Amino acid sequence: MSTKLLLPLMLVSFFCLAPRAWSQGQNQSEAQLPEGSGKEIVQVACAVCHSLNQVSNAGHNREDWDTVLHQMVNVGAPVPPDKFSTVLDYLAKNFPAKPLPPGVTVPGSADVSIKEWVVPTPGSRPHDPMFAPDGTAWYSGHMANILGHFDPKTQQFTEYHPKMANSGPHGIISDKDGNVWFTANFKGYIGKFNPKTGETTEYRMPDPQAKDPHTLLFAPNGYLYFTVQSANMVGRLDPKTGEIKLATSPTPKSNPYGMVISSKGVPIFCEFGSNKIASIDPDTLEIHEWILPHEDSRPRRIAITPDDAVWYSDYSRGYLGRLDTKAGKVTGEWPSPSGPKSQPYGITAIGNIIWYVESNSQPNMLVRFDPKTDKFQSWPIPGGGGVVRNMVHTPDGNLWLTESGVNRLAFVEVKKGQKVSLNR
Ligand code: HEC
Repeated sequence: MSTKLLLPLMLVSFFCLAPRAWSQGQNQSEAQLPEGSGKEIVQVACAVCHSLNQVSNAGHNREDWDTVLHQMVNVGAPVPPDKFSTVLDYLAKNFPAKPLPPGVTVPGSADVSIKEWVVPTPGSRPHDPMFAPDGTAWYSGHMANILGHFDPKTQQFTEYHPKMANSGPHGIISDKDGNVWFTANFKGYIGKFNPKTGETTEYRMPDPQAKDPHTLLFAPNGYLYFTVQSANMVGRLDPKTGEIKLATSPTPKSNPYGMVISSKGVPIFCEFGSNKIASIDPDTLEIHEWILPHEDSRPRRIAITPDDAVWYSDYSRGYLGRLDTKAGKVTGEWPSPSGPKSQPYGITAIGNIIWYVESNSQPNMLVRFDPKTDKFQSWPIPGGGGVVRNMVHTPDGNLWLTESGVNRLAFVEVKKGQKVSLNR
């Protein structure tokens, strides 16, 4: 492996690694790999873009390592095809699955059915799902430069590729004309993909620091708002002119992450690197922060109910929380059913009901919370979930989920008005 090839890979990929806020201050010295056939390849190929700790701290069964290895090769890890199984054996033997908190099933009166599909390209890492106005679903294949389309009627997948290689499609959202907008998390641009022509328009970040656009949403004023995690920024794109404005979060290293738009058209985002949630003035981009009561809270994604309460998945503490944005204070925090290590992550609200996923339980659990009764209900995700990073709901009250680590897309049908009456 020549340094000529390694260098561009490093540049491409350094910035895409999510800095893990809670690992700051920990010993960052490089892991010593155990002896064994495959060690030399791992030592070189797996230290190009991130530290080897990323490898040695992980634990997976063989099947899940197979998916991880495909993901890494997709983004450019130099593992020759004939060495793939040697490396896989090495990883599975030396870094086996670690016990995760068991998913706790909470019974209740709601009824769902979960359907799952394995997406076509191995190691796509389906990151975010999207629901299109025509009733079909899309997802971003973060590690395989894919915008995936799934038509539930025909059960057909079609994979599209933004024209710039290794863009790292991450957040994904449609406009009313059927274009698919995405954040190119590895290449510092926002893309507009036109499924009719197959064309991608690239809107580059005006500041080279803004390397990793993350989550994006349209507001009623027609602008596209987005977070830029590692760059500690948020931004706004005018789809008419392509003009992009950026603003830096007042808190250093705050990792602007998940986002919602309030009923007044105000973008609100959570700071995964701190214990704060913040609003953005839609015109001036001025940022106003709310501080969550627990210093250790790390809100990773947020949902919003019609009363403009913001619900946060507190990833570090294993809680669901409610921020009353009108009163400017947190009015409730509830321990997630699978416990403090359950890592609540993807979250959305259907009307007044909160839905989210515990992303670190075995298997990942789909959780429903009804604020009226203060009750949780939860279901195991059949394919395991493999870290459900995001979920969206459809206008008729069902859910699409992406199961990043097990390469699946899932549809949750929320049964309407059946068993619900039994307990009320
Ligand atoms: C070309 C760059 C690159 C190379 C080379 C690379 N990785 Fe990665 N790796 C990534 C990126 C990007 C991520 C995702 C970081 C994020 O966004 O969370 C990642 C994350 C991971 C994770 C955490 C997975 C997760 O879902 O959180 C593991 C484990 C991992 N890499 C293992 C490996 C192994 C094993 C190798 C060598 C075969 C390797 N990596 C080589 C880019 C690379």
